[in-house]
Amino acid sequence: MVVIKDEYAIKDPSLAEKGLTKIYWAQRQMPVLSKVKEEFEKTKPLEGITISGSLHVTKETAVLVLTLKAGGAKVYLAPSNPLSTQDEVAAALASLGIHVYAWRNMSVKEYFYAIVKAVSSGPDVTLDDGADLTVTLHKLYYEEEAPELKEVKTDVKEVKGVADKVIGGTEETTTGVHRLKALAEEGKLLYPIIAVNDSLTKYLFDNRYGTGQSTLDGIIRSTGLLLAGKVVVVAGYGWCGRGIAMRAKGMGARVIVTEVDPIKALEAVFDGFEVKTMKEAAKVGDLFITATGNINVIRAEHFKLMKDGAVLANAGHFNVEINLSDLKRLSRTRRKVNEFVEEFTLLDGRRLYLLAEGRLVNLVAAEGHPSEVMDMSFSNQALAVKYLLDNKGKLSKTVHKLPLELDKKIAYLKLESMGINVDKLTKEQIEYLKEWR
Ligand SMILES: NC(=O)c1ccc[n+]([C@@H]2O[C@H](COP(=O)([O-])OP(=O)(O)OC[C@H]3O[C@@H](n4cnc5c(N)ncnc54)[C@H](O)[C@@H]3O)[C@@H](O)[C@H]2O)c1
Repeated sequence: MVVIKDEYAIKDPSLAEKGLTKIYWAQRQMPVLSKVKEEFEKTKPLEGITISGSLHVTKETAVLVLTLKAGGAKVYLAPSNPLSTQDEVAAALASLGIHVYAWRNMSVKEYFYAIVKAVSSGPDVTLDDGADLTVTLHKLYYEEEAPELKEVKTDVKEVKGVADKVIGGTEETTTGVHRLKALAEEGKLLYPIIAVNDSLTKYLFDNRYGTGQSTLDGIIRSTGLLLAGKVVVVAGYGWCGRGIAMRAKGMGARVIVTEVDPIKALEAVFDGFEVKTMKEAAKVGDLFITATGNINVIRAEHFKLMKDGAVLANAGHFNVEINLSDLKRLSRTRRKVNEFVEEFTLLDGRRLYLLAEGRLVNLVAAEGHPSEVMDMSFSNQALAVKYLLDNKGKLSKTVHKLPLELDKKIAYLKLESMGINVDKLTKEQIEYLKEWR
């Protein structure tokens, strides 16, 4: 049963206490964001501002949302995946006055109901993870065809007024940045976006170490498999893929990487991994993990070659990397063998195991990234919101990066929280580095 009210829609309000404890635990691991929160509490830079977000509703997101609230903002929150919401966290946020519309296992229709709810609040700033909220607003504005909104009541009053009010937005992940850059390239982006993903203190840590650890965490929690001795095929050697490959290797797996970019492929070879095509890897892999942000990376021609018992998982943003319709078409039966494990018996009797419905396995079957990593990602988010407000009207309607000084500020604060000091350039060194003679 879901409790649907105008001010929130969540699974069960009585879970709030449990959620508050989880948020407390996350906050303890997020010293940089806690510092930003203290600063926001004092200076109230977001006073009178409405912020609408589409983010995974996790304990770490809760710490971000409460930071924004501490800065004076009113926050509306929709999820960024129908399966990733932690219901106790949503309940806790609702109990603290956050307008949250999220519960685990939403249908696609309910998911877009939540997104539309967040859009129609009339935000000054939007936050996104995958760009569903920003894209929905743009589709409504340009009256674009939107099959995903077909059954959703999209009575966003005066879409133009809503869009005109937005000062700017942020985007958390690689896939969302790609979508928003495509929108900007068509000249249709309605307001400036800060690509939080492109901060160094985001992708070098969140995408690499966060996805590296939490993807394996999700796979292990859902299957209990031993990684030692397994052949693990990682599709994509970008920031997520290299984290996954590195951690799988560390646990004793024989890792094969597949790539389409020759430079990334070469890096993988020099990092000590085997590189093969997916067709070659399909025959030998025990566990396949996609992290490309691309569509149909594993498809019929690969399923046909896989060993009986092969396991399929995705860490990329959308559930499009493993071709699910091919898998269904090639199967004679399917059944759940575990909460997040579905067995597909192919026409020839081989069985393949799909984890978490092909959605991001770390957020569906585990709890997403460790809080320590989200500390930096979400400090970027919070500082990006302030940066957008401080630069109201000055930024072009394109996708921007957060200035390097803010990125470095986050790195310094993180190091400080870990008790680590770094050297400073001397005057003489600064001069030397500028000198061509
Ligand atoms: N699960 C999570 O919590 C999480 C966290 C961060 C990012 N992401 C998502 O993970 C995905 C990857 O992000 P990233 O930051 O690593 O991106 P990236 O751009 O750094 O890397 C993607 C890599 O995939 C490769 N690739 C593209 N198509 C391919 C194909 N058909 N076969 C093999 N390789 C292919 C590209 O060449 C590139 O090297 C995105 O969808 C991103 O949004 C998920």
